Amino acid sequence: MSETPKKAAITGHPVAHSRSPLVHGYWLKKHGIDGDYGRVDVAPEEAQAFYRNFAASGLTGANVTVPHKETAAVACDRLDEAARTMGAANTIWLDEDGRLCGANTDWEGFLGNLDQGAPGWDARPGTAVVLGAGGAARAIVFALLARKFTHVHIVNRTVEKAQKIVDEFGSGTSAHGWDNLGKLLGKADLLVNTTALGMTGKPLLEIDLSELPKTALVTDAVYVPLETDLLKQASARGNPTVDGLGMLLHQAVPGFERWFGVRPEVDDDLRALVLKDLGAAS
Ligand code: ATR
Repeated sequence: MSETPKKAAITGHPVAHSRSPLVHGYWLKKHGIDGDYGRVDVAPEEAQAFYRNFAASGLTGANVTVPHKETAAVACDRLDEAARTMGAANTIWLDEDGRLCGANTDWEGFLGNLDQGAPGWDARPGTAVVLGAGGAARAIVFALLARKFTHVHIVNRTVEKAQKIVDEFGSGTSAHGWDNLGKLLGKADLLVNTTALGMTGKPLLEIDLSELPKTALVTDAVYVPLETDLLKQASARGNPTVDGLGMLLHQAVPGFERWFGVRPEVDDDLRALVLKDLGAAS
């Protein structure tokens, strides 16, 4: 007896430009799985009902993107620690009893990317500087504390937003405005940009790296362009760098494993496929 093919999808609003179907489609084909991964645009006024009655969608599970990650988390019967801490779910599924479960895998995406792109990067976890205080920053702070970084400085234009993250994560974190950056960089082992600055079509991230130790790893959540100005500047002065594309690819791994039962790999062919698609779109 053959099982009904499993179906998953990216859900959010909008979803037309999401690369998730490309990523999961690649893995489905590579592993010869008779499944499907599509797109479901969920209008904001329908989001609450959609996630609450997720079983009615006919999907085994889904990814959740902007602006529904918080709504999805509220609709879940069970959340993993990351989704609970962040109040946002990006990966959902129904368990054998039909209960909706949610996880947040963005932090795993961040770690998977650095583990692959800079092996040993966390051998001596020290001090990190995170630029920005949105959802990506929250996931990255969670990831760095999980890897035992001793301190994470969160630098944001709106200091209150950085302070909100500090209030959640406690004494291993602190909040700052941009004017403090030079001093903080002087003691940093890792610098991460999570703001939209430097993305194609957005203002440049104007930053003076002269205080940053040359051994500090620099990474950027922006992946269009792949080599952002920040990464260019950092490599030019000899700092190790990792681009942000892997974060997108690695955050997809736990969902695929959950829905389709195989833990997929982020390999060079997948990176090339997504890069080609990004190139075609820009
Ligand atoms: P995400 O959830 O993807 O992290 P977000 O919540 O929109 O995205 O957060 C975007 C981040 O980029 C914020 O930290 C934002 O700073 P504010 O909190 O002060 O808005 C930062 N950002 C966006 N445009 C910026 C700009 N022109 N200058 C400085 N920071 C900027």
